[in-house]
Amino acid sequence: MKMRRLCILYFCVLTKATTLFPSEISEDANLNFTGLAKKYGHPAEEYEVVTEDGYILTLFHIPGKKSTPLLLMHGTGDHADSFLLRGKASLVITLAEANYDIWVGNLRGNKYARRHVNLNPDEDPEFWDFSFHETGLYDLPATIDYVLNATGKENLKLIGHSQGTTINFVLLSSKPEYNDKIKLLIALAPVAFLNNLTPPVSTLIEAGPLIDEFSRNLGIEEIPSKKIPVPKFNNLKCRGGSKDHILCIFLGVFYSIFFDPKTIEPEFFQILTGHYPGNTSRKTLVHYNQIALRKIFSCFDYGVEENIKRYGGELPTEYDLKKVTVKTALLVGRADRLATVQNAELLRKLLPNVVLFHIMKPKTWNHIDFIWRNDMNVYLFPTILTLLEKYD
Ligand SMILES: *[C@@H]1O[C@H](CO)[C@@H](O)[C@H](O)[C@H]1NC(C)=O
Ligand SMILES: *[C@@H]1O[C@H](CO)[C@@H](O)[C@H](O)[C@H]1NC(C)=O
Ligand SMILES: *[C@@H]1O[C@H](CO)[C@@H](O)[C@H](O)[C@H]1NC(C)=O
Repeated sequence: MKMRRLCILYFCVLTKATTLFPSEISEDANLNFTGLAKKYGHPAEEYEVVTEDGYILTLFHIPGKKSTPLLLMHGTGDHADSFLLRGKASLVITLAEANYDIWVGNLRGNKYARRHVNLNPDEDPEFWDFSFHETGLYDLPATIDYVLNATGKENLKLIGHSQGTTINFVLLSSKPEYNDKIKLLIALAPVAFLNNLTPPVSTLIEAGPLIDEFSRNLGIEEIPSKKIPVPKFNNLKCRGGSKDHILCIFLGVFYSIFFDPKTIEPEFFQILTGHYPGNTSRKTLVHYNQIALRKIFSCFDYGVEENIKRYGGELPTEYDLKKVTVKTALLVGRADRLATVQNAELLRKLLPNVVLFHIMKPKTWNHIDFIWRNDMNVYLFPTILTLLEKYD
């Protein structure tokens, strides 16, 4: 009942918003990371990182005078652009103005990392045979090592959002030697546990296995997929009366499960549709779904037979968070429907070196508000800058 009322409310807000959509769409909807960085006064360099298992990832660099490199890692269905989309009021530009040496990574499968030395993402389903486990075990260390080698430094600081935090917990528990390469981890909307979820997210999680079976039968490995004839989601024209109007409302309602709609202006929403949704693998979503259903932060569950082969037991191996000894700051939104305060508190109890547990001041702070919200410069960036100074 509560959920229905909520949906209707969102629907009204967004219907109203669509009539306000600008007729002139900002060019930012169509600029990539490099284009945006240049436009906002801090040109970026592009590099290629090749992982141990052959994925080719684009890594962006905005040079700065500060000596410890700073690496940013994005979340699921996302890419490097999100840290820059707010232009002058974005995290990347704020850090660049403060002279940080900024590196922004990309995880396999997104538009900047949809390449492999011998697999073709459009033809070889093996390309998509990865979850956040592989992005943590291969993409993250390859990116860290690339930055350290290029800068000649021994360690870096890291800011991750959502899956960009999960991959740290995977890497540092599996290869603890990487703890020494990270001076400070700032975890925005940290995800290791997905317990205590409420509708509509818990409803989606419960339906997950069924949706997955359906997708597998259709041979869908990439999400979203070309195999189901859904309308084009990218670069919509949202203004009232245009053909994409209803789709914009649908997308807005879906997104607003994860953001506070009051902090996303119609002009900015229109820019977002130029960049999202980003692509990921079905297996990544399945792995998160398993974590939520089993309430244990563990490796991928392949079923008893395959688990015995891979892990030597009927159940998948748990990630040992005691081994994640890096200094960690956890930043949490009170209205986050995934990285809930309770889930973050669980993480705080298990991680041995939490230097800050910070709940964002606005009560409506949700999961993607850490990258898109219009008041990040007021409530988020000062906390980040203080942390970076303090743990230099
Ligand atoms: C970004 O866009 C520019 C101009 O269209 C293009 O030259 C460049 O290769 C693009 N970079 C990436 C990483 O896609
Ligand atoms: C490390 O950096 C040097 C010089 O910057 C470069 O020549 C070399 O290829 C790099 N090694 C790796 C593994 O990236
Ligand atoms: C994401 O997937 C859709 C459907 O397969 C595809 O049309 C689109 O080109 C992909 N996006 C990118 C940036 O590769």
